[in-house]
Amino acid sequence: MPEPVRTAVFPVAGLGTRFLPATKAVPKEMLPVVDRPLIQYAVDEAREAGIEHFVFVTGRNKSVIEDHFDIQIELEATLRERGKKAELAKLEADRPPPGATTFTRQQLPAGLGHAVWCARAIVGNQPFAVLLPDMLMQSAPGCLAQMMNAYHQVGGNLVSVSECEPDQTDQYGIVALGDAVGPAFRITGMVEKPKPADAPSNLYINGRYIFQPELFVHLDRHERGAGGEIQLTDAMLRLSETQPIMAVRYDGRTFDCGSKAGFLAANFAYALKRPDIADDLRAELKKLLATNGA
Ligand code: G1P
Repeated sequence: MPEPVRTAVFPVAGLGTRFLPATKAVPKEMLPVVDRPLIQYAVDEAREAGIEHFVFVTGRNKSVIEDHFDIQIELEATLRERGKKAELAKLEADRPPPGATTFTRQQLPAGLGHAVWCARAIVGNQPFAVLLPDMLMQSAPGCLAQMMNAYHQVGGNLVSVSECEPDQTDQYGIVALGDAVGPAFRITGMVEKPKPADAPSNLYINGRYIFQPELFVHLDRHERGAGGEIQLTDAMLRLSETQPIMAVRYDGRTFDCGSKAGFLAANFAYALKRPDIADDLRAELKKLLATNGA
């Protein structure tokens, strides 16, 4: 049995420039999809997959993420006084237990690889997961739970992949897959944000990873890659010289909430699954489409 994965890293230091001015004072990870902040979905997905320690790599203006995962004493006391049991139970269920969260700051916007590297002392010498909260995964079981299932069988390092439109390869890390190994696939090529003409496939890394701690040896080198940033993909390529990195094809829908269209689509997709609002929303959408052209 491979060593269990109990710790997950959430890189949440990004400036959210694509959502300005909404993200001037509110971190993009706190933008709601229906009525839950994006970061809550990623934490829920990690908990479902058995994660017990949640490490957030944050930056300035991100302290409300820490508040979000804390107890709000006054709020909870008021809800209790008013007998709002359902709301209280929800807040309690969303909150990791005391001592299960750790926050550290990235300090510099030096890339995703750098953000993960900032968690090295907290993670230590154990396998760990990385979840990019911008990428919202809709499935049961969740994406990380699907990966854990594969990890228990094949161990090593794993990334989750989905298919993108062929003209979107320059937005993601793209992989080429080889033979199947149980529920996973060998990765035969991996390149960060290639132009469509240079892309080895349309399978993109969708923001969920399981790594062995040796990844940090390669992140320690601080090599700059695409965009002058320290890229996680480059460290993965280095790691693949000494350890297997395999891909799991994600069975579910991926919403790229880093883009406005993806974020809005996620809101509709999640709202349409909510019995309390789905019917009303469907009726509103029909009216909107009728008056704005379908
Ligand atoms: C990062 C990764 C990329 C991955 C993407 C998923 O890119 O570098 O390989 O496909 O996340 O969202 P970023 O979105 O940080 O530019």
